Order: sequence, then structure tokens, then C-alpha cells
Amino acid sequence: MTNISLITGGSRGLGRNTASHIAKHGGDVILTYRSQEEEAKSAVAEIEALGRKAVALQLDVENIASFAAFAQTVRSALHSTWGSTTFNHLVNNAGYGEMTDFAETTEAQFDGLFNVHVKGVFFLTQTLLPLLADGGSIVNFSTGLTRVSYPGFSAYSAAKGAVEILTNYMAKELGHRGIRANTIAPGAIETDFLGGSVRDIPAYNESFAKMTALGRVGVPDDIGPAVASLLSSDNRWVNAQRIEISGGQNI
Ligand SMILES: NC(=O)c1ccc[n+]([C@@H]2O[C@H](COP(=O)([O-])OP(=O)(O)OC[C@H]3O[C@@H](n4cnc5c(N)ncnc54)[C@H](OP(=O)(O)O)[C@@H]3O)[C@@H](O)[C@H]2O)c1
Repeated sequence: MTNISLITGGSRGLGRNTASHIAKHGGDVILTYRSQEEEAKSAVAEIEALGRKAVALQLDVENIASFAAFAQTVRSALHSTWGSTTFNHLVNNAGYGEMTDFAETTEAQFDGLFNVHVKGVFFLTQTLLPLLADGGSIVNFSTGLTRVSYPGFSAYSAAKGAVEILTNYMAKELGHRGIRANTIAPGAIETDFLGGSVRDIPAYNESFAKMTALGRVGVPDDIGPAVASLLSSDNRWVNAQRIEISGGQNI
């Protein structure tokens, strides 16, 4: 039976890499994008070239009021593309980073980060529960910055810390349906995140590489395969865990 994963923020970066590795593992994908429709279409083409099915849907995870209509769009896509009423895995990956000192952080910056990384994850998952198959799983994206502190990330990391706690409650309250919920916490990875600074600014790249036991920063291919593997039945007994994927950053 086909496994279908819904990945938020699947147009670029870690979400896109995860989508591609799910396809390589034989799964199909519904991926969402906020504004980069062309990138999302090219992610779909990449998955189709691997012989799997994929659909791209627009979603702003900050726009809670749109979630009911989004669920209806997912329901239609499941029916028309797969002849199914449910999908199997939800990957709450969409997000952005913002670096601001604690003393300077505005209420608008705080609200933006919490809306996307906590409130959006909470209510999107709640809204999609009737479409998530029993026996499925949820993976929520956190960050290595919930374990170590790095100046400038107080609001971002507090939001990610909240999603780690939320993940445990999802595991507790959805376990009766056989649904697992885990958090993955990437270290510094070369993507467009934070304006691409880890990838594009040599001083940043070198400084994070020096903090990492394996001696370099991460690339998307270090994350996607690990998430795809976590979703698979090989990891069916892994539940309510925070799994750091960082090459040993700050140990
Ligand atoms: N890269 C790192 O170093 C790192 C480290 C730890 C944790 N993380 C976490 O990993 C996740 C993915 O980050 P990334 O590095 O892949 O970032 P990225 O390359 O900037 O990609 C971000 C993705 O999220 C989508 N997105 C952003 N804001 C959104 C919103 N309000 N609603 C819906 N979609 C939205 C983007 O859609 P569009 O393409 O349409 O804009 C894009 O698909 C995030 O949760 C991030 O906090 C990243």
C-alpha cells in the first residue's frame, strides 16, 4: 500500500530534501509552499522523476484561519491523485529564522516566530487529524538551539522548545490511534535559512564547523534521509523522542 507524507515547507531546503528521500524510499508526497510556487513545482517534478506521485499545495502556516479550507484541498488531492481518504505521515518542517538580541526583540518578531513554529504546528496538526491515518506518524522540526544557547535566538529557540513539549503531548494523546510523534533537531545546515548565512558567509560556516565533532556544518542530504528513515516502519517503536541530527554540534 502506498505511503503518503504531507510535508510543510517542501519547496526548498530541508523539507524538499526530506520529500525527495521519502520518494527514494518508495513513498508519495504532498508538499506545501508559502510563496515559491516554481520551486514547489520543480520539487514535484523531481519526485515524479523518481517514479513517485507528488502534489504541491499553497499554505501559509501562520494563517490559522485558512487551515479548514486547506484540509479540504488536501482531502480533494488525496481523492483525485490517490483515491484515498487519508495520508500516513505529517512533517511539520516549514519555518524561518530570525536573529535578534533578547533585549531588542519586538512583540511582532516574537509573535511571528511563535505563530509559525508553535501555533501553526498546533492547529494545523489538529485540523489534519481526521485525514491522518491510524498507525501513521508526525515529525516536528526543532533545532539544536534548544539544547545550547546562542545569542540572538531567544524567541526562535523558545518557540522550538515549545514544539518539543507539544510533540510529547501529541505522542501521548494520539498513541491510542497508533500514531507516533517525534521531534528532530538539526544543527547548522547549509540552506536558505537565515538568508543563507550558514552556507554563504565563510566566517559563520567555519565557526559552526569548529563547534561540530565531525568538523563541518550540515547539508540538506544529512537531514532528509534521517527523517525519511524515522517515518519508516523500521523505526515504529521510536516515539516521543527529540533526535538531534547535527554531526555532534556543541558536545
Ligand atoms: N537550516 C538550518 O540551519 C536549520 C537548523 C535547525 C532547524 N531548522 C529548521 O528546519 C526547518 C526548515 O528550514 P530550512 O533550513 O529548510 O529553511 P529554508 O531553506 O528557508 O526553507 C523554508 C521552507 O519553509 C517554507 N516556509 C517558510 N515560512 C513559511 C510559512 N509562514 N508558511 C508556510 N511555509 C513557510 C518555505 O516556503 P517558500 O519556499 O514558499 O518560501 C520553504 O519551503 C525550519 O523549521 C527551521 O527552523 C533549520
